Amino acid sequence: MARGRFITFEGGEGAGKSTQLKRLAARLDGAGLQVVATREPGGSPGAESIRELVLNGAADRWSPVTETLLMYAARRDHIERVIRPALERGAWVVCDRFADSTRAYQGAAGGTDPALIAALEAHILEDTRPDLTLIFDFPPETGLARAAARPGAEMRFESKGMAFHEKLREGFLAIARAEPERCAVIDAQGSIEAVDAAVWTTVQARLAVHG
Ligand code: TMP
Repeated sequence: MARGRFITFEGGEGAGKSTQLKRLAARLDGAGLQVVATREPGGSPGAESIRELVLNGAADRWSPVTETLLMYAARRDHIERVIRPALERGAWVVCDRFADSTRAYQGAAGGTDPALIAALEAHILEDTRPDLTLIFDFPPETGLARAAARPGAEMRFESKGMAFHEKLREGFLAIARAEPERCAVIDAQGSIEAVDAAVWTTVQARLAVHG
């Protein structure tokens, strides 16, 4: 059985990633592929418990380094129990956020040493790396307003202030510039249909899906 493909969705708050992820999962399913749609932090029972800890409470509840470690504890469980087994049985895994969120939130915006993050990537991800990463680019002012209006929104990261969110946006764009073969930037300001079309065109072109 050929290994499946691993696609990650990344970007700041309120850029419409989750809606687009559902649409892409449906399109891949329609193309006859086995699809696993998941998210981080979370995606496995243990990682969802860590999500509760890390996303709720006061903005300064955890330092950026502690957050990095919590994100990586959750990520390892998710990889071991969900992502790697799915890829091995040939499924396509579409994941709402992954390692680039740690680089951008805890690294670029939070100030965690990039060397720590790189070491965790090497030891914890091993060869479980995305084949394609879509970076949803969206102005943080609008994104934060949208995210705050969501029912049941977890507000810890939303409440970190505009300077944090500007650094975050730049952090994601810097990742895309550094790794253009893996990453594609999606302008998330269009209509849901326009963004959906851009996502599908990109996935078809980069990963040779027909459907
Ligand atoms: P969500 O709002 O897209 O569900 O993401 C949850 C929050 O967790 C979001 O504010 C970004 C944050 N996050 C990090 O700070 N680092 C990470 O590694 C991940 C996966 C998410």
